[in-house]
Amino acid sequence: MQSVSNPPSISVRDVSITYRTTFEKRPTLKSAVMRAGRGERLIREIEAVKNVSFDVHAGSVLGIVGSNGAGKSTIVRAIAGILPPSSGEIQVRGRVSTLLALGVGFDANLSGHENVILGGLAAGYSRAEIESKFEEISDWTELGDFLEMPMRAYSSGMYSRLAFAVAIHMEPDILLVDEALSAGDARFKKKATEKMMSLVREARTMVFVSHALATLQEMCTEAIWLDKGRLMERGTPAEVVKAYSKFVDTPPSAATLEDV
Ligand SMILES: Nc1ncnc2c1ncn2[C@@H]1O[C@H](COP(=O)(O)OP(=O)(O)OP(=O)(O)O)[C@@H](O)[C@H]1O
Ligand SMILES: [Mg+2]
Repeated sequence: MQSVSNPPSISVRDVSITYRTTFEKRPTLKSAVMRAGRGERLIREIEAVKNVSFDVHAGSVLGIVGSNGAGKSTIVRAIAGILPPSSGEIQVRGRVSTLLALGVGFDANLSGHENVILGGLAAGYSRAEIESKFEEISDWTELGDFLEMPMRAYSSGMYSRLAFAVAIHMEPDILLVDEALSAGDARFKKKATEKMMSLVREARTMVFVSHALATLQEMCTEAIWLDKGRLMERGTPAEVVKAYSKFVDTPPSAATLEDV
């Protein structure tokens, strides 16, 4: 199914991403007042991703593993177009849906229903098109009447269900999933995993970030390991998980489906 002669769906070329953030060397009130008085600001640069290159072809599921702060979410945000790379180039061919752990994009004061409409409009659908998709999305979430309540009344898992349902019903060519299933219950995870696999069988492309190494091995066709922003290894999910597990000294079998 995967054809290497076709251009990749995602092409990441020598990408580096640096965040600039304010930095308090000694965060005391006195130092802050003194600096403010002199108009001085300390800026710290964090090199979150360093010279990373990889391609993902249609019909592939790329797993990304790595420790906290390794740069996984940063590279996903860059592929999603939310964050521009500081250098290098990212090319994406197709319609992208992104599922982030923190579920950016929903307005908690609006109902689930209203958020679905807004999400659809943001994805470029007409109001009529998205209204016609609403029933399918609503069935998929199994949230019932909660869809008419403000989203601040949702549990984390309910929030994830809606985010996932909206993302997959936008018919993405490329689905980016950054630890977005972790709050879901067993039933939701099973259903979400099946849905993701069916998208992949249709030759869509997926990037899957997770600390659940067993599930990642099951779901992905290839994997990369990032550490401190650098690409440490690329290979089959089994090889990459083995190398990463050895590095952090935790056997991959310690992770189960329950930690997705
Ligand atoms: N908005 C931001 N501003 C400044 N620094 C940031 C920002 N977001 C992330 N970073 C820094 O960039 C680095 C990479 O963070 P990132 O969120 O990509 O890690 P991650 O691999 O997704 O980790 P985790 O497993 O904890 O989700 C970290 O050092 C982090 O502190
Ligand atoms: Mg992250």
